[in-house]
Amino acid sequence: MPNDPERLKRYLTCEVPDKQWVADKLIYLLSGETVIPPFSAAAIKLGQLSRDENCQMEEVAEVIQMDAGLASDIIKVASSVGFAARRISSLDQALMMIGMSEIRRIALSMGVMKNFEHLKSQVDWNSFWLHSILVARLTERVAAAYRPLCGSEYLSGLLHDCGKLVLEHYFPEDFDRIIIRATERGSGHVVVEQEFLGVSHAQIGAAVCECLQAHLEVIRAVWYHHDPFNVQEGNQPDNSKFLSACVGVADALTNYKQINIYGARIMDYDKPFEELPEWQFLSQYQMSYGLDLDLDLEVEKAREDLKSFGLGGDDNSEGEEA
Ligand SMILES: [Fe+2]
Ligand SMILES: [Fe+2]
Repeated sequence: MPNDPERLKRYLTCEVPDKQWVADKLIYLLSGETVIPPFSAAAIKLGQLSRDENCQMEEVAEVIQMDAGLASDIIKVASSVGFAARRISSLDQALMMIGMSEIRRIALSMGVMKNFEHLKSQVDWNSFWLHSILVARLTERVAAAYRPLCGSEYLSGLLHDCGKLVLEHYFPEDFDRIIIRATERGSGHVVVEQEFLGVSHAQIGAAVCECLQAHLEVIRAVWYHHDPFNVQEGNQPDNSKFLSACVGVADALTNYKQINIYGARIMDYDKPFEELPEWQFLSQYQMSYGLDLDLDLEVEKAREDLKSFGLGGDDNSEGEEA
């Protein structure tokens, strides 16, 4: 079913009058069926299941088996070094040995990366995915320090910058200019995107998540990950403000470790990360569980994940770090 352009317009508002055509073109592209194919039924179901704390291992296995390709990818990744010490030949075995939450994490990552495979271009996207996986991991770690996990954390982190993939694919020259200008300024991409194109990757990412039929919390976390301060909470506050703040912190921490494509925001690397404005914002919430974060270890784990997912084999991501 094609995506409803009216729904996409909510995210793709344009601040620069002579750039309205960019937003219009994006709405036209994204409302077609082919640019961002919706997640497979299995991936959508898996997303819902990860929000259900009572879900059983059998249910997870049943859902994954709905998608034969996904199931075999998971078995392949699960038996790679870093996940299991020996070869795994079935999904049940993978679930037993590695555990449900790891399998869900692998399934979501593989599902998301596959969905964007056709948008690949000349840029080395290894750094992009390393950044995304690390942000996903850290979003989960940071959120877990404050509240019981809601199940949307990992996916929100994984998808937070997916708007950049669309920008790079459909506006390659503008994307290059944005990278150059953002690198010169050290300001990060968003300000320059808004100046050059009238829309940001965060807005585009939210529209993409809408096309993927992601949970509303995920859509809003992606939308506001650079601006959690301005999340409008309705009469019934949901988790989105907190979640976008967690993605914002995870993103800042990842930039702090200089893992991103070129043009990322330049930070004061000598300052302790607790002084980042994103951390300060999060301090309005009660940290109930405590956080013991070893950033270098998280980076290492994210690199291992990327290798297991079939990317980042020859670790050339250093060249792309900003
Ligand atoms: Fe971003
Ligand atoms: Fe990011």
